[in-house]
Amino acid sequence: MLNFQFRNPTKLLFGKNQIANLASEIASEEKILVLYGGGSIKKNGIYDQVTDALKNHQVLEFGGIPPNPEYSVLLKALELIKREKITFLLAVGGGSVIDGTKFLSAAAAYQGTDPWQIMQTKKVPDNTLPFGTVLTLPATGSEMNSRAVITREDTQEKLSIRVDALYPRFSILDPQVIQSIPQNQIANGLADSFTHVLEQYMTYPVAAYLQDRIAESILKTIIEIAPRVMSDPADYEAAANYMWCCTMALNDLIEKGVPTDWAIHMMGHELTALYHIDHARTLAILTKSHYEYNLESKKEKLAQYAARVWDIKKGSTEERAMQGIEQTECFFHSLGIKTRLSDYTPDYNGTAEKIEKTFLARGWEKIGENRTLTPGDVKQIVAMAY
Ligand code: NZQ
Ligand code: ZN
Repeated sequence: MLNFQFRNPTKLLFGKNQIANLASEIASEEKILVLYGGGSIKKNGIYDQVTDALKNHQVLEFGGIPPNPEYSVLLKALELIKREKITFLLAVGGGSVIDGTKFLSAAAAYQGTDPWQIMQTKKVPDNTLPFGTVLTLPATGSEMNSRAVITREDTQEKLSIRVDALYPRFSILDPQVIQSIPQNQIANGLADSFTHVLEQYMTYPVAAYLQDRIAESILKTIIEIAPRVMSDPADYEAAANYMWCCTMALNDLIEKGVPTDWAIHMMGHELTALYHIDHARTLAILTKSHYEYNLESKKEKLAQYAARVWDIKKGSTEERAMQGIEQTECFFHSLGIKTRLSDYTPDYNGTAEKIEKTFLARGWEKIGENRTLTPGDVKQIVAMAY
């Protein structure tokens, strides 16, 4: 097992009707900005629950943060934060609203002229604004991690950041919120969280027995509850397990003491930046080709995954590894998620070369758990996913 340090300061309030406890998590003198997306919270009752819980606080609101939180929209929220001297941010939404709020927490303290530098330098100023979240869509794990991914339309960029200052103070996780989520977004959440586990697991063995078993348990639980949450989002038991799996998949626990990959995400973000494909679907497009291309270096973990998660125990290491890859693709298909780039855009020719160029320009010359994948390898992996 590799050496590690671990600290996750986010407090969770998990379970039915926990939004009612919001007021006790924010000091009464704070001036709060509630941030949300395109308005789903106004139709499903979450907005009413939040405003009711905060009826004795001073609250302003900013709506309209789009999926793949757009920089230019966030700049409008930043103006409001500065003008109104906001002291606390409350994200009410999925990964996009939470990530946008994390960016604003840093941008509010930023003293320079170009807040995009926060994403480019991956550094945040001291004195970030405190923030909490009310999660409405289980998927990204953003509610209990220090990562944010921000999109910038005019430069076709989608950049991520990870710094300790961006852990939420608290997050409220009421699994009942999933009742109003459209089926394609539930499928996205299942595929995204599944891939988060894979990115931290599908590398090479380092005798981290517990981390492997925890990762496999999350994968098996997602596979078990997927058909239930897809067919009946009102099934509370399934919803609660779905939500907890998504948080556990990316709250830093399972990466401790093991190598991590994240190449699928790095490539996938480019597909969203170029074609606006939903984040989770970009991962489903790239997973098979990434694992096939890197079969030699990943085959032991792939075979272990095939055996322990999919019960495939016969055949050579390579054969089991290949079957593990097939099962993963079948799982995405079972969620109604297509797995070729050409399923999403007719303009896929040249994508691999574009992404190679972007990686070269950013100096991303060695990625993956072994830091051996070059932009040339990335080009081939993307082309295999056409
Ligand atoms: O905007 P509204 O109207 O709220 O609708 C949203 C949005 O259209 C809707 N929705 C959310 N909760 C709902 C609901 N509709 C009905 N009922 C509810 N309870 O769902 C749509 C998608 O929301 P979004 O927040 O974009 O989805 P998700 O949570 O999948 O977040 C995706 C973003 O997170 C980033 C992705 O790159 C993408 O930008 N990621 C963030 C990570 C992190 N911070 O750790 C890691 C991930 O790998 C990922 O990269
Ligand atoms: Zn993801």
